Amino acid sequence: MDTNTSLYRPPAPYPSREGAGDFDGVETNLLRHLPEELYKSDIVDISTPDKPNFLINDPELLSVIFEDKPEIFVKSDGMIELLRPLLGDHPLVTSNNRCVDQRAMIKPIGSTHTQQVNFGHIQSSINHFESFCEEIQNENRVIDLSHLLRRLNADIAYRMLFSIELPKSVFDDINTHARDFETRISQLIRETAEKGVAWQLPKVPQQAVYSAQQLRYLVSMLIDGNIQSNHFSHNSFLHKFLVARSPETNIPFTRKQLVDHVTTILNSQELAAAVLMWALFVLSQCPDCRQKIREEVCRVAGHGDIQFEHLSRLRYTRNVFREVLRLYPPIPHLTRKTNRAIKLGRLDLPEGAQITISPWIIHRHQQYWFNPDRFDPERFIKKDHHIIMKSFLPFGRGLRMCTGASSAILQGTLILARLVSQFDIEVLNPDKVEPEGVLFLEPLRPVVCKVTRIKHI
Ligand code: HEM
Repeated sequence: MDTNTSLYRPPAPYPSREGAGDFDGVETNLLRHLPEELYKSDIVDISTPDKPNFLINDPELLSVIFEDKPEIFVKSDGMIELLRPLLGDHPLVTSNNRCVDQRAMIKPIGSTHTQQVNFGHIQSSINHFESFCEEIQNENRVIDLSHLLRRLNADIAYRMLFSIELPKSVFDDINTHARDFETRISQLIRETAEKGVAWQLPKVPQQAVYSAQQLRYLVSMLIDGNIQSNHFSHNSFLHKFLVARSPETNIPFTRKQLVDHVTTILNSQELAAAVLMWALFVLSQCPDCRQKIREEVCRVAGHGDIQFEHLSRLRYTRNVFREVLRLYPPIPHLTRKTNRAIKLGRLDLPEGAQITISPWIIHRHQQYWFNPDRFDPERFIKKDHHIIMKSFLPFGRGLRMCTGASSAILQGTLILARLVSQFDIEVLNPDKVEPEGVLFLEPLRPVVCKVTRIKHI
């Protein structure tokens, strides 16, 4: 019997059967316009009249792009120009080798020792967050799940950066500017896609630039304030950034680079919050999976606190987090361009060709995954594990892979383990929940929920 047929299919727009389809001006979810063919092919030509553009799904070709020839498949200008007002010259938006130095300088923040120290920060944040959830419960309030988790994740980032709790007013300011920037950029991408010129993005609107400047100014003030008060520990990211030296030149970060890095860390927590939002939504619909997490936490940590050493043994919980990253990759599309003519599989690519790599499509590809639309955390323990991992790229791949990947998985696993074993999260509008993929993958409408602390007998 095929047991997988009973697995849950979490919400996602069905691919379009008629091809890329016209936009009717009402339907704004770009994921609805992706034709079915994209989920079955290894390479798809999506060129516009003036720009060669290829969607690459084939895992072997992805190895060439990300691992073998990253110096030829560089980051594409479109995305860089969109994000530069906010992230400056951060490696995430740097196309050439200039990023190698910076990657080396930020390496200490990903070390195991730092992760152990940060574990304490995450625990403190969750303690605080649990009290907040109790308040919500006592006041019988309903709440937007994304907003709730953004606050938790921003607090975690803040504690890691500066060793102190994030004041609510600072969160409100960060959130307002970051959301405004993201909403305006997503709107720009939507409008451009509707005109059928997806990667010829026009200039970033002035209002978005203004929001980015406001956020960067705020970050600058936070850096100064924290340096002056001198309460941040030697393990804080701020300290590690201040003492970092380029392996090439022995020069420290410039002031602007410091702002780039702190702004990016505060913003990347939005990605972590997005995955958790999807995880808690999916779990709210899957009582069996919730129960398995609770049993695992109890088996591994007993009724006491979860310790750092326990994390590697929370395998099921970690696989739930990974499966959510597969179905809802927070960065749904990545782009590259060729900086010289090159042969890629059967393609002869000219210099300047666009390459689109879509974790959203690859993670739901019908040839690379069994029952791709189903929620099946156990797929990560099957024996063809190494094969499926080639088509699993929520953090990118190769030389330019996300430097925060392992800490994001650790943090996500811990938060899931703790929240699921302490609370029931009931989503009040499950039929209205749908992902939308523009700049990031987000719910199209707010996911409204109620939280209730579980009574342990
Ligand atoms: C769930 C959370 C996260 C997701 C899904 C995510 C995803 C990604 C992806 C897909 C890329 C590759 C972009 C590309 O190839 O063009 C990337 C790059 C990067 N990420 Fe993350 N990220 C997350 C959290 C973080 C965190 C918490 C940090 C920092 C503490 C971080 C730091 C970076 C950096 C520095 C890069 C640039 C690497 C380079 O281009 O050399 N990320 N991330």
